[in-house]
Amino acid sequence: MSHNQTTYGIIGYPVKHSLSPVMHNAAFEALDVEALYKLFPLEENELDDFFDQLRQKDSPIFGLNVTVPYKEKVIAYLDSLTPFAQKVMAVNTIVITEDRKLVGYNTDGPGFIAHLHELGFDPRNKRIAVLGAGGSARAVIAALSLIPERPASIKVYNRTPERIDELLRDLGARIDTKFVEPVMSIDDLNIELADLVINTTSVGLKEGDACLIEKELFHANMMVYDLIYNPAETMLLKIAKEQGAKTANGLGMLYYQGVLAFEHWAGIPLEDPMREIMRKALCY
Ligand SMILES: NC(=O)c1ccc[n+]([C@@H]2O[C@H](COP(=O)([O-])OP(=O)(O)OC[C@H]3O[C@@H](n4cnc5c(N)ncnc54)[C@H](OP(=O)(O)O)[C@@H]3O)[C@@H](O)[C@H]2O)c1
Repeated sequence: MSHNQTTYGIIGYPVKHSLSPVMHNAAFEALDVEALYKLFPLEENELDDFFDQLRQKDSPIFGLNVTVPYKEKVIAYLDSLTPFAQKVMAVNTIVITEDRKLVGYNTDGPGFIAHLHELGFDPRNKRIAVLGAGGSARAVIAALSLIPERPASIKVYNRTPERIDELLRDLGARIDTKFVEPVMSIDDLNIELADLVINTTSVGLKEGDACLIEKELFHANMMVYDLIYNPAETMLLKIAKEQGAKTANGLGMLYYQGVLAFEHWAGIPLEDPMREIMRKALCY
């Protein structure tokens, strides 16, 4: 690999669980593009240097994804945001222009909605419970609030309640969020009445992570969606499935957000055969 090979990648901590390299490198190979998608595990104190380097004219990096825990933090380093990213105030995709300007996109929100459609779940008039208030929760809640088939209600619980206040303040500045209700305990999520439960927390990423919800609350008429895709079946999904709920992990969301990210970097839409190559690379 030459030093100046055109590079794309994902920044976060941890990033080693990410399947994004598999998907994007398959696309580069199929398009015969000499580029490599790499993992950039970064500690928070390394962000300043990383973004300084990124702005240099000789930087080989032309596009990035952003994952836990930096989707909100990276905004301070960017030159501009797309209107949707501005509404969400969380970025998972950065486009680097020829003059090294950094533009923030959010493809998590549309990626999540695309996967819900593929699963045949119509959010219209549904009751939704969300666990978590991090970067991905922002994207999911904003996207659900902006689609025409808007749900009846979204209840949100987070371990750190102040983070929900910030989320609602940011989203509420540009989106009608009056049907989004913060709750102070998991009990108040009314899981037993929910049509869709979405886990946007990182609980489940590590082996041995528990299920945050009591098993008796799941029921057969609900869908339980975990944004985590590695492991493919978190304890949450395992227990929900045992209780008869329909379940989905975040692999479909990863696929759709990745296709959108690639299109933003390339500046052109991807044809169906290319999408299929990315889908197959993920075994999705
Ligand atoms: N499938 C996909 O395409 C896709 C896309 C985006 C994200 N994801 C996944 O979604 C997850 C969250 O990503 P993110 O970017 O939103 O991360 P983030 O901004 O760092 O937020 C993490 C969330 O997890 C909560 N959390 C962490 N540890 C917890 C614990 N022990 N108990 C309860 N809550 C806990 C945090 O609560 P506090 O505020 O209290 O810390 C926060 O709500 C990750 O696993 C990521 O891989 C998947």
